[in-house]
Amino acid sequence: MSNLKVWLDGKLVNHEDATVPISTHSLQYGTGIFEGIRAYSTSKGTAIFRLQDHTERFFNSARIYRMKIPFAPKEISDAIVETVKVNSLGDCYIRPFAFYANYSELLRPKTPKISTYIWAFPFGAYFEGVLKGIKCRTSSWQRISSRMLPVQAKASGNYLNSIVGINEARDSGFDDAIFTSMNGFVAEGSGENIFIIKNGEIITPGKDSDILLGITRESIITMARDMGFHVTERFVHREELYTADEIFFSGTAAEVTPIINVDNVPVGNGNVGDVTKSIANAFSDIVRGKNGNYDKWLHYVA
Ligand SMILES: Cc1ncc(COP(=O)(O)O)c(C=O)c1O
Repeated sequence: MSNLKVWLDGKLVNHEDATVPISTHSLQYGTGIFEGIRAYSTSKGTAIFRLQDHTERFFNSARIYRMKIPFAPKEISDAIVETVKVNSLGDCYIRPFAFYANYSELLRPKTPKISTYIWAFPFGAYFEGVLKGIKCRTSSWQRISSRMLPVQAKASGNYLNSIVGINEARDSGFDDAIFTSMNGFVAEGSGENIFIIKNGEIITPGKDSDILLGITRESIITMARDMGFHVTERFVHREELYTADEIFFSGTAAEVTPIINVDNVPVGNGNVGDVTKSIANAFSDIVRGKNGNYDKWLHYVA
C-alpha cells in the first residue's frame, strides 16, 4: 500500500498520510458509508464496472444516514477514475468511503463533519480456490432486519453482522456464512448475494429478504435473462439449499463464486455446475470488455 495515492476530501495524498485521530466518531461507532467497486484490465485499458450505479448507491447510503457528502456525485465518480488512473491500476478494488470525522463525544455530532476518501488497490480473487467452489454454513446469526437498521445502506456498522457470521463460519472450517433473515428465509452471504439453480431455473432471494441489493446481483439477473434463463426473485427456504442443483454467490468482491457444499451437504453432485460455469464465464467476458452488448456497464479509464 505504501506507494498508493488516496483521494482525501479533494486532494491526492499518500496512503500513510490519510489518517484520523483515535477519537473519530466513525471509528468509535461505525458511522461510515461506503462502496466496493472493481475495475478490470481490458484490451482497451482499465474499465470500472458500473461506476454510475455504485456512485448512486454511495449517495443513497449517505442520504439514508442523513450524511451530507460535500461533493456532487459527478465529482466523486471523477475522483474514482482519477484515483485508479494516478495509481496506474489494472485489476483493482476501489473503496469510496464517507464518514463522521468529528471528535466522538456525542452520538449525534452537533455539527457533522463529513470526510470522504477513495482508496484503490490491486485485487484478484476474493476467495481462494474460487474456481473449484467454496463451502458454506448457514449462520446461527441472522441477517440484520430492516426493522433494526437500514439494510439497503452500505454502512460500516452493518458489517459487524457479517463479521460475526464469517468468524463463526471460518472457525468451524467453512469458507463463508449464509444468513437467513428474521423471517427464516435465506438472505445472503456475509458480503455476497446468493443464487440457487433448480431444474434449470435461477432463483434468488428478493428485496423482502433483507438483502443488500447487489449491483452484481442485478447484472446477473439481467445477463442471465438475456442468455435465455428463467430468473425468479422470491423467498428461498433454507432447505432449498440442500436440494438445489447448483448454488453461487455474487458480489463485487466475490464476482461469481460457486458454492459446492452447504452445512456439509454437497450441492448437487458436489462439483461446480454447468449453469454456474456459463454465468461465471459470461460475467467475466462482460467485465473484461469482451461482450459489446454490455459496454454501457464499463467506464474506461482514459
Ligand atoms: C452484505 C452484502 N450483500 C451483497 C453484496 C453484493 O453487492 P454488490 O454486487 O453490489 O457488490 C455485498 C457487497 O457489496 C454485501 O456486502
